[in-house]
Amino acid sequence: MASLHDQIGELRSQFMNELKEAIHSKDLENLKVKYLGKKGPIQALMISLKNCTPDERPLFGKVINDLKEELTLHCDHSLARLKQVELDARLADEWIDVTLPGRRTHKGKLHPITQAMNRIIDILMGMGFSVQLGPDVDTDYYNFGGLNFAPDHPARDMQDTFYLNTGLLLRTHTSNVQVHTMKNFAPPIRIIAPGRCFRNEDISARSHVFFHQVEGIYIDRNVTFADLFSTMDEFLSKLLGEKVETRYRPSYFPFVEPGLEVDVRCISCKGTGCRICKHTGWLEILGAGMVHPNVLKEGNIDPEQYSGYAWGMGIERLTMLLNDIRDIRLFTENDLRFLEQFP
Ligand code: DAH
Repeated sequence: MASLHDQIGELRSQFMNELKEAIHSKDLENLKVKYLGKKGPIQALMISLKNCTPDERPLFGKVINDLKEELTLHCDHSLARLKQVELDARLADEWIDVTLPGRRTHKGKLHPITQAMNRIIDILMGMGFSVQLGPDVDTDYYNFGGLNFAPDHPARDMQDTFYLNTGLLLRTHTSNVQVHTMKNFAPPIRIIAPGRCFRNEDISARSHVFFHQVEGIYIDRNVTFADLFSTMDEFLSKLLGEKVETRYRPSYFPFVEPGLEVDVRCISCKGTGCRICKHTGWLEILGAGMVHPNVLKEGNIDPEQYSGYAWGMGIERLTMLLNDIRDIRLFTENDLRFLEQFP
């Protein structure tokens, strides 16, 4: 009897020591298995009961059961307490303040010039034109010679050119794509060429060394002036609104004959005269004409069999007119206060 009491006392104090050291609920679960599990010391004591005398057995059995209950209670209490501590710690850790204002993300958008180009491309693709890109850096031939600019022709002075020391130049207009395309494709040709252009000019509110154009060219059998008019009217009404009124004025470009300039009724004052149209009631929008026979020949196209029209327009100028922008330099300054005004 005394020795069982000793054993029980020993077991209890061992258990209590280990209980103090259990910090995590996992430790406690292990402790419970260790002492109260099937292979634990309490179970061993139970088994040893069979060696007792029948008198001793109920008494001893009760003492062992009491210990078992006592330890179980300790375990369950401590486990509940530790689990609560752990839960509190996790909640504190994962706490999210849903009332905090969100972080602002800055959404980029397309540059107004890109937007205008995309819009023009969309419209013209819808009218059957496909997009053809040409080089920004090109030869004199494609930018001038192949477009019927004579070597000493004063028309070359119309466009001040950046020459590279390799003998190449930065294209002064997207018209260089005309001859490239004619040499590479047989008629019918129906393409537009959007892109960058460069001119060696003084930078001011009205002119820049860097700008964009969209060129168009259509070559087939029996293409006439009427086709040019109807295509320009259709295109401009899609771009500027159904009711836009157009005006065609004779003009000169070496690569077209006849050449002309196309005006639209001022979109701002509707023709009554304002600052934007310089009180003329009209806005000059693009240059156009019937492709010169010499240019067709340069593109290996027989002018007796084929004819065509071409046009070219400046995108900065158009965007400035449409949005009442008074300084072309704004497009290249990347000032967000300017850019953010566009949708
Ligand atoms: N390339 C001319 C310019 O930069 C614009 C132009 C005029 C293009 C008449 C054409 C055209 O295709 O037919 O001013």
